[in-house]
Amino acid sequence: MLPTVAGPIGIFDSGYGGLTVLSAIKSLLPQYDYLYLGDNARAPYGSRSFDTVYQFTREAVEWLFSSGCHLVILACNTASAKALRTIQQRDLPTIDPERRVLGVIRPTTERVAELTNSGHIGVLGTEGTIQSRSYEIEIYKLHPQLTISGEACPMWVPLVENREYDKPGADYFVRQHLEQLMAKDPQIDTIILGCTHYPLLLDKIRQHLPADTNVITQGSYVAESLKDYLSRHQEMDAKCTKGGTVHYYTTDASDKFNQLASIFLREKVDARQIKLEKL
Ligand code: DGL
Repeated sequence: MLPTVAGPIGIFDSGYGGLTVLSAIKSLLPQYDYLYLGDNARAPYGSRSFDTVYQFTREAVEWLFSSGCHLVILACNTASAKALRTIQQRDLPTIDPERRVLGVIRPTTERVAELTNSGHIGVLGTEGTIQSRSYEIEIYKLHPQLTISGEACPMWVPLVENREYDKPGADYFVRQHLEQLMAKDPQIDTIILGCTHYPLLLDKIRQHLPADTNVITQGSYVAESLKDYLSRHQEMDAKCTKGGTVHYYTTDASDKFNQLASIFLREKVDARQIKLEKL
């Protein structure tokens, strides 16, 4: 039986990346309570199969629901690309048709056209996100005139998860993938960081791009889209408690999570370790 009383908004990622989204959401909507879950023990998700990403994400969503969340944001592009639709269309009607799971791809694609002059967009993401072609599919639905090129950057999430994102060694992998992306389409003037871990590499990414290239991080777009969603869905807003708290959970050791999460968020984080399994 799932709890029926109002609860926090759940924010899920494979690891630390979703903290970049949580941070933007918290600053736009500080009044709500949040429950952040990082599946650090099983990150990265990016190179895993469709079935595995779906299974892991479903377990996380069920855990967040059973912890009192009525609304869950998949702050992970890989999970949004590979699991969101199945969870929304197949699972929610049987788990609880009144609960909602939202992703991060749609809010980003809705805004991209306003930034580009050339009409040529680059998307950087995990292998799973790029292979799914989710960004092309979503952007073409709204803006068929745009030209989209994708580049998978399989080393970038491990650089973040292993705290190497600001070390000199990271430059090699950042430059390599930016050069490969620009070689696919030299007219690209706007690049979507289609992985919530990548904003941690933003300084390095900017160093290797022309100064006038737009680099899109998702946090603020997801936050604005959530605000809009809650204002349009008063019945869901009423199920989200407003106490301004954040509780953190991780599937790996909490001391390790606390250390890195505190650096990312610039505030003390006190996470609890949990085990995710089929409920
Ligand atoms: N933050 C996830 C995303 O946005 C990272 C995926 C991974 O674990 O590889 O795609």
